[in-house]
Amino acid sequence: MVQRIVFLGMGGTIAGTAQTAGDNVGYKAGQVGVADLLGAVPGLQTVLGDSLATAEQVCQIDSKDLAHADWLSLLERVSHHLAMPEVTGLVVAHGTDTLEETAYFLCRALAPNVLMHKALVLTCAMRPASSLAPDGPGNMADAATVALQPGAHGVLVVCAGKVHNAAHVQKVHPYRVDAFDSGEGGPLGLVEEGQVRLLSGWPEPDVGQTRVDVAGLRAQGWPRVELVTSHAGASGAMVRALLQTADEPDPLRGIVVAGTGNGTVHKEMEAALLVAQQRGVRVVRVSRCAYGQVVGSANTSHSGTFAAYGLSAVKARIALMLELATREVNIS
Ligand code: SIN
Repeated sequence: MVQRIVFLGMGGTIAGTAQTAGDNVGYKAGQVGVADLLGAVPGLQTVLGDSLATAEQVCQIDSKDLAHADWLSLLERVSHHLAMPEVTGLVVAHGTDTLEETAYFLCRALAPNVLMHKALVLTCAMRPASSLAPDGPGNMADAATVALQPGAHGVLVVCAGKVHNAAHVQKVHPYRVDAFDSGEGGPLGLVEEGQVRLLSGWPEPDVGQTRVDVAGLRAQGWPRVELVTSHAGASGAMVRALLQTADEPDPLRGIVVAGTGNGTVHKEMEAALLVAQQRGVRVVRVSRCAYGQVVGSANTSHSGTFAAYGLSAVKARIALMLELATREVNIS
């Protein structure tokens, strides 16, 4: 059987164009189709070897505008292709701005068995396709190298020669080409001259994790979870404003608070969050620190009554939405 690798396009800077080739900032994301992006990858055939490549456009957007429905569209296409026996791996060309969120969502929504032997590699670029020195073609080639690597599996992110675990990766720089970081664990591996050098193992699928009810999400919509940040001089105003939206057609179901240090929350905001919690809104706290996660449950006064998630704030928001959706489905 001839093996196949599928490239899915979501838009982003990798598919962006500017009026002038020297402009790496004032461009429009999501302009070039994924098939054309593939055509611009030098030496792609060498990377592919005997494997075939197919390209499919799923979305064509600036990822800052990504909607939950786009995740479901992508999930549907990814699931379709992963189920094909001849497909050895997938590459998704995505905008950098919300790439870590999409990667985490896919990681949670795909059944572990479909990722046991195949790699789903998200890649991106920090310079538009029209740039004098675009980084997209190299990242696409590296992503394809990883997707074809024997033994590679799980949801991965490849950028600037580094292979990251979807669960840990974060965009950490608004301009640098090497814009992603995996925190204390570091990258899983490197791509050097077309060769993968693994620094640790491929991510193991979390078979024990509650499966996300995707059909439920499609049918019932996404539970609304909002994000607030605690800081010096914080008040309860943001939380109280959110509570006023609790009865809208899309009611407030959860709040993630990015807390200071070890997930602590300003006493004014904490008081408002306790009211929210009493009214049935799920409150989850995380640390706003770039590295590490909330340690232990103890901290000042009441913050400890809010569950702490060991995720970044944006990933915790996804985790809470999925948890609430699954719970709703289980109850009904
Ligand atoms: C986007 O996220 O779609 C635009 C920014 C980027 O890809 O770097």
